[in-house]
Amino acid sequence: MALLEKGSPRTWMHRHASLPLLISVLAIFAVEIHPVRAQQQYNNVSGYACTGVQPRCLAYAYYRTQEANATLNSTAALFNTSAANIVAANTNLSSVPATTPLANGSALYIPLDCSCLNNTYQAPTTKVVQAGDTMYNISIITFQALVTYQAIGAANPSIIPETMPVNTILRIPIRCACPTVRQQTDGIKSLLTYPIFPNEELSAIAKKFGHTEEELQVANTLPNSTIAAYTTLLVPQGTSTPGGNAGGPGSAPAPSAASRASQAHWLYSVSLLGVQSLLLLLLFYHAK
Ligand SMILES: *[C@@H]1O[C@H](CO)[C@@H](O)[C@H](O)[C@H]1NC(C)=O
Ligand SMILES: *[C@@H]1O[C@H](CO)[C@@H](O)[C@H](O)[C@H]1NC(C)=O
Ligand SMILES: *[C@@H]1O[C@H](CO)[C@@H](O)[C@H](O)[C@H]1NC(C)=O
Ligand SMILES: *[C@@H]1O[C@H](CO)[C@@H](O)[C@H](O)[C@H]1NC(C)=O
Ligand SMILES: *[C@@H]1O[C@H](CO)[C@@H](O)[C@H](O)[C@H]1NC(C)=O
Ligand SMILES: *[C@@H]1O[C@H](CO)[C@@H](O)[C@H](O)[C@H]1NC(C)=O
Ligand SMILES: *[C@@H]1O[C@H](CO)[C@@H](O)[C@H](O)[C@H]1NC(C)=O
Ligand SMILES: *[C@@H]1O[C@H](CO)[C@@H](O)[C@H](O)[C@H]1NC(C)=O
Ligand SMILES: *[C@@H]1O[C@H](CO)[C@@H](O)[C@H](O)[C@H]1NC(C)=O
Repeated sequence: MALLEKGSPRTWMHRHASLPLLISVLAIFAVEIHPVRAQQQYNNVSGYACTGVQPRCLAYAYYRTQEANATLNSTAALFNTSAANIVAANTNLSSVPATTPLANGSALYIPLDCSCLNNTYQAPTTKVVQAGDTMYNISIITFQALVTYQAIGAANPSIIPETMPVNTILRIPIRCACPTVRQQTDGIKSLLTYPIFPNEELSAIAKKFGHTEEELQVANTLPNSTIAAYTTLLVPQGTSTPGGNAGGPGSAPAPSAASRASQAHWLYSVSLLGVQSLLLLLLFYHAK
C-alpha cells in the first residue's frame, strides 16, 4: 500500500490525503468500542457506585408487602415518599385508599429520589430502632435487602450496631442508581432496584420485566446467570414511570425499551460496520 511506499510526490500527496480518512476510520472504531463500558457492579455491599450520567435522578425500588397491616401510607413512610407518589408509579393503585391494608405480597414500584453521596448512589430514608432490631434484620426484613447492613453501618458511623438504643434514628441509604452513558444511548430512562427473594432465578426476573437474561447480566456486570438471595439487581426501565411501561408490577410488560434498544444497537453496529468497510475500501483504493 502507498502508506508504506516512499518516493514520488504523487504517492506523498495520496499518503497525506489518506490521513483524514484513516483518522475517521480509527475514530469510528473508537466510538464503537467506547459504549461497551461496564455498567453497575453486582453485589457491591457499599451500594452502586456513581457511574451514571446524572448525579441525581428518579429511580425505583421493587417492594413486595410482607405484613398483613402494610398500607400505601406505611410503605410510603418506610421509603421517605408519599402514598400519592407511589400511586403515580403504579397504575393499578389509583383507587386504593392510603390506609387500607394491601394484600400480602402486593408488588409496588416505589419512586426514589436517588442521588450521589460519598461516591454511592442512594435514596435516603430513616428508621426508628425498635426493641430487638439489629442492622442486619432492618436490612433483610424491614427493607428486604434494598440496603445492606454494611451500608447502614457506614451511613451511621457514630452508632455501635450491638448496642443500638431503642428509638435511635438510623439513616438508611436505599440502593439505587442513575443510567450510565451506554444505557442512556440505549433509551433507558430509569433503573429499578429489584431485591432477590430466596429461590428466585434470573430467567424469571428477566421475563417479569420483558428483558432477556443477557440484558440483566449486562446491566449488572454479571458473568453468568448465578444470583444470590438478599442481593439486588438493577432492572433497566424504558419509560420514566414504570407503571406506564407495564401497567402494574405483575402485569405483562410491553417489549421493553431495553430489548428495542438492543435491536437498535445491533442495527447501529451493523450500519457502523458498513460505513467502516466503505471507508476502508475508499482508503485502500485512494492509497493505491
Ligand atoms: C463498590 O462501591 C464503592 C462505593 O460506591 C466503590 O468505591 C467501589 O469501587 C465499588 N467496588 C466495585 C468492585 O465496584
Ligand atoms: C406474606 O407472605 C409471605 C410469603 O409470600 C409469608 O412468608 C408471610 O408470612 C406472609 N405474611 C403475612 C402477614 O401473612
Ligand atoms: C403491623 O403490626 C405490627 C404488630 O403486629 C407492628 O409492629 C407494625 O409496626 C405494624 N406495621 C404497620 C405498617 O402498621
Ligand atoms: C398518610 O400519611 C400522611 C403523611 O405521613 C398523613 O399526612 C396522612 O394523614 C396519612 N393519611 C391517612 C389517611 O392517615
Ligand atoms: C398490581 O397488579 C399486579 C398484577 O397485575 C399485582 O401483582 C400487584 O400486586 C398489584 N398491586 C396491588 C397493590 O394490588
Ligand atoms: C427524604 O428525601 C428528601 C429528598 O427527597 C431528603 O431531602 C430528605 O433528607 C429525606 N429525608 C430523610 C428522613 O431521609
Ligand atoms: C433478627 O434476627 C434474629 C436472627 O435471625 C432473630 O432471632 C430476631 O428475632 C430478629 N429480630 C427481629 C426484630 O426481627
Ligand atoms: C459519608 O461518609 C462519612 C464518613 O465515612 C460519613 O460520616 C457520612 O455519614 C457519610 N454520608 C452518607 C450520606 O453516607
Ligand atoms: C458465575 O459467576 C460467579 C461470580 O459472580 C462465580 O462465582 C460462579 O462460579 C460462576 N458460575 C459458573 C457456573 O460459572
